[in-house]
Amino acid sequence: MINLKLDIDRVLDFITMNDINAFQPQMDLHYTSLLEKTGKGNEFLGWLNIPQKTTEHFINKVKFDAEDLKKKVKVVVVIGIGGSYLGSRAVIDALNHNFSSLQERENPYIIYAGNNLSEDYMADLLDVLDKHEYSIIVISKSGTTTEPAVAFRIIKNHLENKYGEQSAKHHIIAITDATKGALRKLAGKEGYLSYKIPDDVGGRYSVLTCVGLVPIAIAGFDIKKLITGAKEMQKFLASTSSIKENPAVMYAAVRNALYKKGKTIEVLANYSPNLYYLTEWWKQLFGESEGKENKGILPVGMNFTADLHSLGQYMQEGLRNIFETVLSVENSKRELFIPMLENNSDELNYIAGKGLQHINKMAEAGTMLAHVEGKIPNIHISIPQLDEENLGQLIYFFEFSCALSGYTLGVNPFDQPGVEAYKNNMFALLEKPGFEKQAEEIKKKLRS
Ligand code: PA5
Repeated sequence: MINLKLDIDRVLDFITMNDINAFQPQMDLHYTSLLEKTGKGNEFLGWLNIPQKTTEHFINKVKFDAEDLKKKVKVVVVIGIGGSYLGSRAVIDALNHNFSSLQERENPYIIYAGNNLSEDYMADLLDVLDKHEYSIIVISKSGTTTEPAVAFRIIKNHLENKYGEQSAKHHIIAITDATKGALRKLAGKEGYLSYKIPDDVGGRYSVLTCVGLVPIAIAGFDIKKLITGAKEMQKFLASTSSIKENPAVMYAAVRNALYKKGKTIEVLANYSPNLYYLTEWWKQLFGESEGKENKGILPVGMNFTADLHSLGQYMQEGLRNIFETVLSVENSKRELFIPMLENNSDELNYIAGKGLQHINKMAEAGTMLAHVEGKIPNIHISIPQLDEENLGQLIYFFEFSCALSGYTLGVNPFDQPGVEAYKNNMFALLEKPGFEKQAEEIKKKLRS
C-alpha cells in the first residue's frame, strides 16, 4: 500500500491546474525515456530497478555481515562523502533515538568521517577512537575521492596501531566499484570484506544499494522493510505517467510549473530533528541532479520550528522567488503530554493535556497558512510515520521525481561536471603531480 500523500492545493493560488497539466506531454516523453532508458545519462539508471532486483539472498548476506561486525565493536566509522554517506545517514538518523550516543544500545553507534577536511574534526574523532573498540566502513564509488581517501589513510593508520596490521584488516569493510579505483585495488590486496557498487548507479541514487544498506543494517534497522517500501513505490510509479495519478510525476510537473513562474528556490521544510539528514540527502539529490547549464531550482533545507526563529522572517517577507515543500510526518514514534500546572505560572495551561505532536502539527499548519498568505506556494508531502517501509517509499519517490524533473528542465540529472572545478583548483594548490600548469595559473590569480 502506498502511504505517501502529495497535496498541491496550496500552489493553486499561484499557478493553475492548466499550467501544471501543460507539462503532461513532456512528462509522457520523459517518463518513457526514463523507463525505457533512452534519455540523457541512461548509463546511470540502475537505481530504477534496484528495489525489485534486490534479492532475499543479498539482504541476508548484508544482515549476516552486520551481525558479525556487531559482535566485535560498539562504534563504526562510516567514511564517505556526498552520495556515499548521505543516504545511510538520512535513514539512520530518521530512525534513531535522537540522543543515541548517550543511550544504552544493542547496536553499534555510527559516526561519520571523510565528509570534510577539518583537522580539528579528525583530531577529535581520533580522541574518541582511542577509547573505543571500532571498525570502519569506507565507501567510495570512484575509490579516489580526496576527502574519504584522506580520512581512510589517517583512520586506517590509527586502526593498525590499535589492533596490529593483520587484525586491523578484519575491522574494515570496503564498498566501492567492482573493478576500478585505488580502493578496489587495496581491498583486493589486503583482503578486506568488500561490496561492489553497481556500475549503473551514481552516488546520490545509491542509498538502496550496498552503499546505504550495509551501514543501515549495522545501525540495527530493517533493510528488508526499507526495500519493501521502495519496491511498493517502484511498482506504483511504474503504472502510469499521468500527472493526476502519479505523485512523482505531479511533483516534477508542479516544480517545473513554479520554476517557469520565477520560483527558483525550493525550501524543503521538516518539523523533526530526525529529518535533518533526510533533508540534506534531498538537497544533494536535487541540487547535484538539476543545477547545471545555468539552470535549476536551488534546493534549500529548513528545520522548523528552529529556523522559523531565524530564516522564518525571510520566508514570510523576503524576496518572493521561493516555494516551499513541507515534509510532514503524521504520527510521532513516542507520546508525550504537556503537564497541568496548578499555579499556571508559565501560562501554558491552555495546552495542558495536549500531546507535543499535536502542538507541532499546529505549528506546521499555522506556518503553512502564514507562508501562503505571504505569497509562498506550498506543496505538502506526508507519510504516516518514520519507519523503514515509509522511508523506502519516500526515497524512491524523490529519486524518480528528481530524474523526471531534471529531464523536464532539459539537463542530464545523472552527471555532476560542476563538482570538478573546486577539486582541480585544490589539486593545483596542493601541487598534485600532473597539475603543474594549473598551479602556475592559479597562483597568478591569487596574487592579482
Ligand atoms: O552523487 C554523487 O555522485 C557524488 O555526490 C558522489 O557520491 C560523491 O562525490 C562521492 O564520490 P565517491 O563515492 O566516488 O567517493
